[in-house]
Amino acid sequence: MHTRRILVFSGNAHPVLATGICDYLDIELGDATIKRFPDGELNVKVSEDVRGADAFVVQPTCDPVNENLMELLLLIDCLKRASADRVTAVLPYYGYARKDRKDEGRVPITAKLVANLITSAGADRVLAIDLHASQIQGFFDIPFDHLCAAGSLSRPFMESRITDLVVVSPDVGSIKLARAYAERLGAGLAVVDKRRISPDAIETGFLIGEVKGRNVLIVDDIIATGGSVCEAAQMLRNRGANSVQVAATHPVLCGPAIERLGAAAIDRLTVTDTIPLSEAAHELPVLCVSVANLIGEAIKRIHFNESVSSLFT
Ligand code: R5P
Repeated sequence: MHTRRILVFSGNAHPVLATGICDYLDIELGDATIKRFPDGELNVKVSEDVRGADAFVVQPTCDPVNENLMELLLLIDCLKRASADRVTAVLPYYGYARKDRKDEGRVPITAKLVANLITSAGADRVLAIDLHASQIQGFFDIPFDHLCAAGSLSRPFMESRITDLVVVSPDVGSIKLARAYAERLGAGLAVVDKRRISPDAIETGFLIGEVKGRNVLIVDDIIATGGSVCEAAQMLRNRGANSVQVAATHPVLCGPAIERLGAAAIDRLTVTDTIPLSEAAHELPVLCVSVANLIGEAIKRIHFNESVSSLFT
């Protein structure tokens, strides 16, 4: 008989999402506190019995990424040492994912180091959503469930039944994602040729596909400085697009992003809550779709040893 309890814990990164997941699972959020010692070191304490439990730690490693990562590692270590039967690291957003290879000499592969740290801390499994590079799953030698937010994110567009819709990938890297949206929404597909000049500067080149007189939806996994989607939006307007919307899973929104998005030719931005939105972001024409139920359902299936694969696509 299955007697293990599900326990869900949260660091300081996104307790609202963790609470939403608990609501879906109809359980209370696990009792953990994260304080600081006088010298700034983190002081983590789980205040309930976890022995034999199936524990899940919900912690997107968004800004402040190093703090949030360290909290995640300490919570995993704490739960293992307190005899939780199994600990799953739930990373709605996997920070450092863009450093997944050596693209020049003498640089680290930080996404792999993060994988090593999570495994060394004692995680038995990992659950994440829309990794920047899905091969990061292979950086782990423990089970990794990789969820896809396209189902949740495309729902508002299915409901609004936009006519003459073209889904646009803002770069070649996101073509697969864009195709998934286009198939789901019965829309056309176009691709922008993007070149990154510096970490926060983008240049657009060719457009493959037709957008004149059409309603376009740019899809991406991440909006960081906003350069990619804002440059693409401007290009598509210049090419005669009727309306321009953007859908992205992870609203990192750093540096000049809010200012850029506010000034961009974008009618509406749809994102998920894998990362909490800042107050300033709420000033934008933004719709935030929650992934709490998606993660909650995945946790339930993992706990009961049911297939999670239908949530991958
Ligand atoms: C790039 O490969 C990603 O899919 C995103 O397009 C990129 O990370 C977004 O960054 P930014 O908003 O700074 O252009």
